[in-house]
Amino acid sequence: MLSSSSAYALPVGLLSLLTLGLSGTDARATPAPLGQTISLSRRTPTRRDGVSAEEWLQQNRLATHAKYGLGTSGGQRKRASGMNALTDLQYDSTYFGSIAVGTPPTSFNVILDTGSSDLWLASDESATSRASGDIPLFDSTSSSTFKDLGQSFGITYGSGAAQGTLGSDSVQFAGFEVNQTFGLVNQTSASLLTSPISGLMGLGFQTIAASGATPFWQSLAETSGALDESLFAFHITRFTNDTSANLQEAGGTFTLGATNSSLFTGNIDYQDIPDGAPGYWIQELTGLKVNGQSITLPSGSNAWAAIDTGTTGVGLPSSIQQEVFAAIPNSQAGSGTTEGYYLYPCSTEVTVEVTWGSSSTSWSISSADFAFQQVSDNTCAGAFFEISSEGSSAPPFIFGDTFLKNVYSVYRSSPASVGFASLSSAALAVNGGNDPVPSATIGSVASVTPTSTGTTKSPVSSSSAGRAIHVTSAAALFSVFIGAFAALL
Ligand SMILES: *[C@@H]1O[C@H](CO)[C@@H](O)[C@H](O)[C@H]1NC(C)=O
Ligand SMILES: *[C@@H]1O[C@H](CO)[C@@H](O)[C@H](O)[C@H]1NC(C)=O
Ligand SMILES: *[C@@H]1O[C@H](CO)[C@@H](O)[C@H](O)[C@H]1NC(C)=O
Ligand SMILES: *[C@@H]1O[C@H](CO)[C@@H](O)[C@H](O)[C@H]1NC(C)=O
Repeated sequence: MLSSSSAYALPVGLLSLLTLGLSGTDARATPAPLGQTISLSRRTPTRRDGVSAEEWLQQNRLATHAKYGLGTSGGQRKRASGMNALTDLQYDSTYFGSIAVGTPPTSFNVILDTGSSDLWLASDESATSRASGDIPLFDSTSSSTFKDLGQSFGITYGSGAAQGTLGSDSVQFAGFEVNQTFGLVNQTSASLLTSPISGLMGLGFQTIAASGATPFWQSLAETSGALDESLFAFHITRFTNDTSANLQEAGGTFTLGATNSSLFTGNIDYQDIPDGAPGYWIQELTGLKVNGQSITLPSGSNAWAAIDTGTTGVGLPSSIQQEVFAAIPNSQAGSGTTEGYYLYPCSTEVTVEVTWGSSSTSWSISSADFAFQQVSDNTCAGAFFEISSEGSSAPPFIFGDTFLKNVYSVYRSSPASVGFASLSSAALAVNGGNDPVPSATIGSVASVTPTSTGTTKSPVSSSSAGRAIHVTSAAALFSVFIGAFAALL
């Protein structure tokens, strides 16, 4: 469906939610056929290079991705925390970090996705035939610690399927190392890889990992004393309304095992995951105001939202979407390639306020973030797009980066909850700024602790700071190599 020259696969979290519970090659979420062509003109502040606005919108709504892996990982000795510097790709479309895999370690850029729970990497050219640019591949033969687990797997996309095998290897991320099971993708029928991204790391709970794998972060959280706190946190940046932004910009900071007090102010307002049954990072949406008007919301599980860094916009049921846009003058439902979205005059300022759980605090979504994509001279598509989670275990709402750019977000496993705090001025200063795109650094791992089920090592320091040495074996292969990771051997 996408041409190879414009094959940007954007938010991966969304349909991962919708395809949960499916396995193998079931390709249920079929993209709508391309409808009529609407004339597009670029609104300077919102560009998606290499892909037309309509393609981008459609991909945004339909893109999906894989989930696979297997249980992993063993002991852990040192209490610690670590960080990973993020890159903002394509004006807030995707945020990725960097992991290092194998022995010797090779680095890969992966989308960090709180809306799914499996790790996978492209491992074969055929997996990337429809992707744009050069996608670095994981080569299992170059790692002395790689283990083929002898199992095949399938991955469901919006428009088809991907397949590969399961393997395990040492994976380093944010200063920690875990013997992790992950998917090696050798076949895709739709594009979800965009250079320089090679795969995806799911940061949801193990209960929604398609294969039952324990996600990287959760292995550490469940290992007594491994993390200072059983949580991770995101600060992600905004470049959507920066007319001089580059395709890649500083994307913010991921922190594992701690929060970073320089990035937020005030208290972190934690609300429990409802029903104490974590899978997605669920919050109950208890308040939604658009231009000052309160939107009527369902209650209980009908108001559940996945807090999802891997989705670019905000997905919601069509009846609620209608009410949201009824509060925005001169808006109308899109059709054809903008089906599922609403269009409204770009000049309209839209204020959105969101309340979670029993909290009395509300969080705003900026008008700049609500103006998702310009589709013609004066017309914008709003970031709130229709999804239907019927028949899946996915919640009816998905709050992605459109919302998360406006807060510091914390994902805590014990007690299972999500917290939000106000961004600090230091964090806000990165938006639209000139901070460098992260580059690879190298640290060291303090201890190696093999166990019967795997190997987990703890980091030397509490940050990714380390000697700035590029990983030559890997970098040489890449036309573009960015990202930062904490602890290489
Ligand atoms: C992918 O790997 C599987 C399992 O080894 C194999 O059966 C399949 O033919 C491979 N597909 C491609 C496109 O290489
Ligand atoms: C906190 O975040 C800032 C900005 O990303 C970073 O420079 C600093 O190293 C972080 N501190 C810790 C302890 O991770
Ligand atoms: C982008 O949007 C943010 C949030 O509304 C705003 O604070 C900032 O000034 C805007 N930047 C530009 C360049 O318009
Ligand atoms: C890593 O985990 C896999 C799967 O549990 C296991 O087969 C393998 O032996 C482990 N590798 C190491 C080095 O412990």
